[in-house]
Amino acid sequence: MSNNKDFKRTLITSALPYANGPVHIGHLAGVYVPADIYARYLRMKGEEVLFIGGSDEHGVPITIKAKAEGVTPQDIVDRYHNIIKDSFAELGISFDVYGRTTSDTHRKTASDFFRRLYEKGEFIEKTSEQLYDAEANQFLADRYVTGTCPHCGNENAYGDQCEKCGTSLNATDLINPRSAITGNVPVLKETSHWYLPLDKWEDTLRHWILDGHKEWKSNVYGQCKSWLDMGLQPRAVSRDLDWGIPVPVEGAEGKVLYVWFDAPIGYISNTIDCVGDEWEKWWKEKDTRMIHFIGKDNIVFHCIVFPAMLMADGSYNLPDNVPANEFLNLEDDKISTSRNWAVWLHEYLRELPNRQDELRYVLTANAPETKDNNFTWRDYQARVNSELVAIFGNFVNRAVVLINKYYEGILPERGQLLPIDEEMIADVKTSVKALSDCLDNFKFRDGLKEAMNIARIGNKYLADCEPWKLIKTDPERVKTIMNLAAQICANLAVVFEPFTPFSAARLAETLGLTDLKWSMAGEFDLIPAGRKIAQAPLLFEKIEDSVVDEQVNKLLATKEANKLAAWTPEPVKANVEYDDFAKMDIRVGKVMECQNVPKSKKLLEFKIDDGMGGRTILSGIAAYYKPEDLVGKEVCFIANFPPRKMMGRESMGMILSAVNADGSLTVIGPQGEVKPGSTVG
Ligand code: 2FM
Ligand code: ZN
Repeated sequence: MSNNKDFKRTLITSALPYANGPVHIGHLAGVYVPADIYARYLRMKGEEVLFIGGSDEHGVPITIKAKAEGVTPQDIVDRYHNIIKDSFAELGISFDVYGRTTSDTHRKTASDFFRRLYEKGEFIEKTSEQLYDAEANQFLADRYVTGTCPHCGNENAYGDQCEKCGTSLNATDLINPRSAITGNVPVLKETSHWYLPLDKWEDTLRHWILDGHKEWKSNVYGQCKSWLDMGLQPRAVSRDLDWGIPVPVEGAEGKVLYVWFDAPIGYISNTIDCVGDEWEKWWKEKDTRMIHFIGKDNIVFHCIVFPAMLMADGSYNLPDNVPANEFLNLEDDKISTSRNWAVWLHEYLRELPNRQDELRYVLTANAPETKDNNFTWRDYQARVNSELVAIFGNFVNRAVVLINKYYEGILPERGQLLPIDEEMIADVKTSVKALSDCLDNFKFRDGLKEAMNIARIGNKYLADCEPWKLIKTDPERVKTIMNLAAQICANLAVVFEPFTPFSAARLAETLGLTDLKWSMAGEFDLIPAGRKIAQAPLLFEKIEDSVVDEQVNKLLATKEANKLAAWTPEPVKANVEYDDFAKMDIRVGKVMECQNVPKSKKLLEFKIDDGMGGRTILSGIAAYYKPEDLVGKEVCFIANFPPRKMMGRESMGMILSAVNADGSLTVIGPQGEVKPGSTVG
């Protein structure tokens, strides 16, 4: 729970994704699905909420991508901003605003913010030697430079971070730095920048976090503690680049604000775009609390750097909580944009249409809240089929079908409750209470279990009461059972709204419920007797094996493509003398006959015209050729290997093949016509 107990409203921010690619399931599980669950939950509780999203459109990765594609950075961010925005909307992420950091509002807000701090003397201006690419005529910062990480030895660390050990770096920390633009070894050149003196805020930050926010998640608290224990250093907030917001002071030509300075201010500008003049209420009034939803790689920026910026200004609230998640892996491998190892949201929405809730459900059930977690398509299928379909969908279907069958859909009055009914009601109330506690404490995964438990309680209740048997002997009792079953369905529509809003809305419509409120959860008079219930809705459909196979095959193809892309030739063997080579008798031959060797998957048997009366050669290339395709071809073979027996047949030599990147073999032979028996050398 937040520290600010007397809050009246909540500002929810979600990390602004870089607009240099689409979003994937790792982003969703880490940030956007939990943030959306929380926003929906608070809105249902009747709280005043503002849920901020937007694209982060500055930074070096965007300019690198633009250069690689031969387009402008603006083209790149326009493309991805729209893809990201549309796919979030389709997944039901209920932002109140989805802005962008190339907007005029943002440019002005970020510039003004910098100027205010500048005029208050909150920056240090420092001249230092930075890496410079003389050929590209450009300073190299952040992702423009790669080299060896001084902490873990990773040879491909970036100038701002080593992705292997997670350490945040300065470009000049890299060992053997190389320009990402030209590949050249950079030189050192003097340049001046503005620095935010984090050391000045260290004690205040220490007290605020380590004493004041012990309730933060242990991964977040622990990371902050280790940063603070290492001691904070001044951080440059400007860069020598031409893509970004110009540093708004005289003499700063060619310098822009560092992307991590302007991006979090994006939360403020997007608030302004959303509510206009009322924005200060959301950022400055003491009865507003702010929650940042982020992934673990953003902790330092949201718990240390941005708060220091807000403190330096002096008029802003600090975040109340930063419930950062760990990472989601995909099929046991780290999600990676550059290796295309991801399930991209826009592709998922296209390839598995109308399955938004299924993805939201699985990503929440498997959320990396306390440790890195793994998404697999088999687990996705299992959770959809054996939880959403078999528990939630099945209960709703049974209850609604029976009400339609017995009462033509008109909900009957209920009579005296029996202990079994009271017990069921108490169980539902217990789960609702536990669920609310979980959501208040950002435990969405456990919360979802409680929501699903209500469907389990419903299934057990029907199984124990057996209304399909009682209908013949005690129809009055069945009215009570079916009335209560309908109320459980109504509870499910309420508690699943934050998690699976599309299905919750379909269920609510079936039951004639409008305006779902959290206070309805745990109540049993949600649907009045006499109301007409519609036919059973199809809430979830089974995922067939073929759907999962297709997705798994797509990933396997990616893995293959990555292997090929990463292929490099084998290192050259140690030198040999010509005389050694000359001992090898390589000849050209013509394939006269070729056939599979019975009982062998590997071997083909060749009859070769070797210009010397012919010979038989066995070769392990059956996996790569149809025998008939090789007849008539000219090949090269080693003619002076001693005879060798394979599968009971004698082979007189070896046919030469090239080994491809994927390990397959291609037979090699002369380019023009050559007489069989000619030597090769
Ligand atoms: O890590 C990222 O994807 C950043 N673009 C997050 C920025 S969050 C905020 F500060 F805008
Ligand atoms: Zn490292």
